[in-house]
This record gives sequence, structure tokens and C-alpha cells, in this order.
Amino acid sequence: MTERAASRTAVLVCQGRAVADGRLGIGRFSDPVAVDLLADSEREMVALVRSGVVPRSFGLRMEYELLSATAEVLAVRTIAIDDAIRAAANPQLVILGAGLDARAWRMPELSATTIFEVDHPASQAEKRDRLGDRRPVADIHFVPVDFAEDSMTAALATAGHDDSRPTTWIWEGVVPYLTPAQVAETLSALATRSAPASRLVLTYPTPNRTYNYGRKAMQLLLTLSGRPNPMAREPQRSSWTPDALATLLAAHGFTVTADRTLHSLADAADIEPAHRSLRADGHLLAADRTA
Ligand SMILES: C[S@@+](CC[C@H](N)C(=O)[O-])C[C@H]1O[C@@H](n2cnc3c(N)ncnc32)[C@H](O)[C@@H]1O
Repeated sequence: MTERAASRTAVLVCQGRAVADGRLGIGRFSDPVAVDLLADSEREMVALVRSGVVPRSFGLRMEYELLSATAEVLAVRTIAIDDAIRAAANPQLVILGAGLDARAWRMPELSATTIFEVDHPASQAEKRDRLGDRRPVADIHFVPVDFAEDSMTAALATAGHDDSRPTTWIWEGVVPYLTPAQVAETLSALATRSAPASRLVLTYPTPNRTYNYGRKAMQLLLTLSGRPNPMAREPQRSSWTPDALATLLAAHGFTVTADRTLHSLADAADIEPAHRSLRADGHLLAADRTA
């Protein structure tokens, strides 16, 4: 991402949720808002993937496979994160790097929760345009923050976040785009605003050379075939071993209560991924603050 440009990976994952809605994890996953947040041109690829008709042209086929795989990953991680939010039932929810996350518009069980969406200013401005006058189901506050530049602590305090009450923090699909130092700084900032019983749920990539080569090859093929590459300006900047992340979290008063691979979560959700190789490096972790 640059200072002026909104996230394209946020659009890709929103398209993934729109593809998955009503098709994957039925009864456990649903995001009917996702499709409404997309531009017409972005909905076209969603419709193509939902049709199941595999395109013949090479470039389109690459885009089709990328979005099909993204839909599987998104259904799996959304189910696990929504369950963790409900189980914690905290009065505040902070969504870090919210992108086109629609929880504040699609989860009526959050109607008594105060939600703070923290995101890069460019991504957040674009989301607000896309939302138009759609009404949220929860009390929502938009907090523009660049994790690389700004103090999230001060921005959240100004937005009304109460550090004496427990918070559930969601950090979904953001850690890969931050450097290790930015991840550590953001963790440190959120820890200072986490009352006992606060919970952090995050997704992160583990080091996986084979997966990274495959990801780079797919991006190259997209570019060579003249199709848009949503990852072009958002390179992966960090990956973590479960031990390294657990140690960092412990230093900030969080104890890891669960750390699962996306593959094991897919099995638990009865989602049989057609693209098992994709996001083979993905983990989802929950950590709680006890004191
Ligand atoms: C792949 S999207 C994930 C969006 C959302 N969490 C989801 O899962 O739908 C990555 C998000 O990270 C945010 N992001 C990346 N770098 C950032 C930074 N330096 N400061 C703030 N947000 C950042 C982007 O704006 C974008 O919304």
C-alpha cells in the first residue's frame, strides 16, 4: 500500500466472502453485505466464480482460481472468528485493518457492542464511500490509523474506546502486510488498552517457502496475462512461527488459548477445500488477557 491508495487485497477478500455466501459453510457462514460493497466490475468476477463455469482464457482462469481459493479461506476464517467474538461477548470490539469487514452490518448479536474499525486512512475512506447510507446494526466508530506511522493508542482513546472495559480485538488478514516491528508496535499499543478478559484473535502466515513461491508465480502469471494483481502493492512483509508469536504475546500479557491451521479449521467446519495448497501457511490464533 502507498499513502494514497486504498487496499486492493481488502477488495479481494470481500469478493471472496461474496463468492462464499450461501455456497460454503452453509448455516455457519453468511455475509450477504459483501456483494453490496463491491463495484460492478468487481461483482463480475464474483458472478463468474459463483457460476462454476471455468473460463478458457488463461488470465481469467488464474483470476478465477485465485478468487475460488480466497472464498474457501474466507469462509473458514470468518466462521472461527465470529465464533470467538460471540464466545468472548465483550462490550467492545476493535477490528484492526478492517477493510470491507461487514460484521457491524451483518451480525445482529453485536447490537449492544461498541465497535471501532481501525484502518489505513485511504482504505477506510474508500469503505465509507462504498457503504453510502447503509445503517450498521451496532454503534460504530471509524478510526483512521496507519500502523506504520500513527499512534493507535491515542486515536482509540480519542474515538471513545474505554480501556477499563474488556475488548475483543480482531486482526484478520493484516499481519502479513506489516513488518515484524510494526506487528510488535501494534501489539504493544493494543495491550496498553486491554482490560482483563480482553481477547485477541488474529490470522497470520507461518514461514513456508513452497507456498511463497506458488504465490509469487501466481502473481507473475496474472501480470503476464494482463489481469489485475491485487497483491501488487501489498507485499508480504512478515511471517511468524507459532512459538515466536506466542512469546511476543506473552510479553504483552496475552496467553494463547488456541492456535490452529486454516486446514484444520476447514476440516472442523466441514469445508472441503478444492484448493488445499492455497494459504497452506495460514494460522488463526486466539489469546486472552487474564490480568
Ligand atoms: C487483506 S485486507 C484485510 C481486511 C479485513 N481485515 C478482512 O479480512 O476483510 C488488509 C487490510 O490491512 C490494512 N492495512 C495494511 N497495512 C496497513 C497499515 N500500515 N496501516 C493500517 N492498515 C493497514 C489495509 O488497509 C486492509 O484493510
